Amino acid sequence: MILLGLNIDHCATVRQARYRQAGQTAGGNVEPDPVMLALLAERAGADGITVHLREDRRHIQERDVGRLRESIATRLNLEMACSPAMIKFALSLKPDSVCLVPENREEVTTEGGLDVAGNLKRVKACVQAMNAAGIRTSLFIDPDERQIELAAKLKAPWIELHTGAYANAYHTPRRAAEFKRLSVGATLGSESGLVINAGHGINYINIAEVRTIPHLHELNIGHSIISRALFTGIEESVREMKRRMNP
Ligand code: PXP
Repeated sequence: MILLGLNIDHCATVRQARYRQAGQTAGGNVEPDPVMLALLAERAGADGITVHLREDRRHIQERDVGRLRESIATRLNLEMACSPAMIKFALSLKPDSVCLVPENREEVTTEGGLDVAGNLKRVKACVQAMNAAGIRTSLFIDPDERQIELAAKLKAPWIELHTGAYANAYHTPRRAAEFKRLSVGATLGSESGLVINAGHGINYINIAEVRTIPHLHELNIGHSIISRALFTGIEESVREMKRRMNP
């Protein structure tokens, strides 16, 4: 069984589009509430809830993360930049896991994997702090041999392979090569003792192939499930993705 980590950032994106200036993040007129969405998604079979607390707070707010920590019954995975402020926040919040991602203010969404090699000291300090606090760290990396080997060396228990390049190449001749990179990367990671997750750009069509990447433990999926929920409701969009992940 491949597990589903539901990324609920874009529920907060819709809220912030209207209520960015509001003092509160839920109640009164302020909607939609990402916490309510998370609880419904869990009921429909989501195995964990993922949020990215971005430096610019463009969608998820600190209060959302605190309310999720108190409310959800599955696992809370906090995506974050590897910065001193976020490390401090994670250590006080104690999510079940953190996923370290690169963060660039200009990007629409996380565009590239974390450059572990280029940020070795910072990533190492973060992994050690999380390991000491009993919080699992996942490194969001491209399926590159060097990055995977370094992740194993740093004793990050999990990696999340960036499926964005594959998703972007899906309707092009590069798709097979991108899929192979993911499969080779997953095998190398698994042989190095890492738990293999994957995410970014996964949808109801490409899941048929993504699910065949070897050694998959969990997929983190957001945009496609939240988008479909506009038409079907979140419970059905979660159930349908889970059916397609594990037919
Ligand atoms: N995994 C990571 C590390 C991400 O940054 C994102 C996007 O926020 C996702 C998974 C989910 O990507 P998508 O919204 O395209 O499903």
